[in-house]
Amino acid sequence: MIGLGMAGAVMAPVIADHPHMRLVGACDLQPLVRSRFEQERALPTFDSVEALLALDAVEAVYIATPQQFHALHALLALQHGKHVVVEKPMASTLAECDAMIAAAEQTGATLIVGHTHAFDPGVSAMRALIASGEVGEPVLLNMFNYTNFLYRPRRPEELDPARGGGVIWNQLPHQLDVARIVVDRPIRSVRAATAALDPSRPVDGLVNAFVEFEGGATAALIYSGYDRFDSDEWSDWIGSSGQQKEAAHGAALRALPRHPADELNTRRSAWSYGGEKMMPFPRKGLPHFGQMIVTCARADVRLTAHGLTVYDRNGVREVTIHNDDARPSHVAVFDELWNAVRRGVRSVHDGRFSRATVEAGLAIAESARVGAEVVLRATGREVRA
Ligand SMILES: NC(=O)c1ccc[n+]([C@@H]2O[C@H](COP(=O)([O-])OP(=O)(O)OC[C@H]3O[C@@H](n4cnc5c(N)ncnc54)[C@H](O)[C@@H]3O)[C@@H](O)[C@H]2O)c1
Repeated sequence: MIGLGMAGAVMAPVIADHPHMRLVGACDLQPLVRSRFEQERALPTFDSVEALLALDAVEAVYIATPQQFHALHALLALQHGKHVVVEKPMASTLAECDAMIAAAEQTGATLIVGHTHAFDPGVSAMRALIASGEVGEPVLLNMFNYTNFLYRPRRPEELDPARGGGVIWNQLPHQLDVARIVVDRPIRSVRAATAALDPSRPVDGLVNAFVEFEGGATAALIYSGYDRFDSDEWSDWIGSSGQQKEAAHGAALRALPRHPADELNTRRSAWSYGGEKMMPFPRKGLPHFGQMIVTCARADVRLTAHGLTVYDRNGVREVTIHNDDARPSHVAVFDELWNAVRRGVRSVHDGRFSRATVEAGLAIAESARVGAEVVLRATGREVRA
């Protein structure tokens, strides 16, 4: 593992408990998380990526460093002949994505980008239902997620619009990946608006994106992270990881340390490997990313905290999904890695798939900036006046 922060803390037990994986070591710049990892797991840690990659026992790496390091660390790992699972977003630019794809193709290594909520069991079930032909082709996706994202403790660059902060890079990749899996067509164009409502945290905290797919399906992707309305209220208070929640409007904002240095320390201590906010919990429902209603040619299908609800001319029926994993979507990432490396199964969330999500994110950012539709062409983005 490279990176033992928030994402690394979630993924470490998933890798360690996976039937086909063995966790052999980790790398992070922070001594605190390294010592917690060493003590809990009796495994070596390193403060340099190269030192970890030099281990013969490392066949694949999971990269959970901040987004600005994804390309650097993935390229290093691929050059060392390792398979790579890199966190979302794949990278910050299309040139970085292209370099990662080229390196994976040259070395023959597997490159997977995850986890996004596109690995959620409910999303797979939605795709399978559509692929079965029962409900017809998707026509309209209505997706929205209202959270406390902006008021969780953040690194300084996450609050800096010039350094990739804001919901387009951090949260929208989940919605874009989910929409792309469900529709299973390339995105043709986007039109978006964003807003930054809090001058003390001047990154975009909400986005409204209208996405059109080839073939004519459209999606409305709405995200708001201002800790007011919480859309999990409409998922029976089951949170995005499947945990039971209680209403706590404004609580994240009220609990936020006032001084940026204290905020960073809280992030590095409580929200990192072994931190008090990263403890395991009993799962009461399915992981999900806000609300999603998919209108298909013959039915409306809603993603719920327990499966799917299908509404059609015969009335309404539930499709319950059974899964006993503590982190089913995260396990699915490493199932995909295993299947690709050991069984030669082509991975869905590979470099090319994930590059298209970065491309759509860039187009959404550009559309919001210029106030016009942005069309995605093979030759690049084109702003439509
Ligand atoms: N899929 C998800 O649900 C999910 C959840 C959280 C974060 N993420 C993604 O994971 C990535 C990391 O986010 P995070 O919230 O865990 O960040 P974080 O700041 O909590 O953790 C990042 C860790 O990387 C370490 N690090 C930084 N530079 C390093 C370097 N050069 N070498 C080794 N270690 C280094 C830091 O010390 C830190 O511990 C981001 O891309 C984010 O979008 C995904």
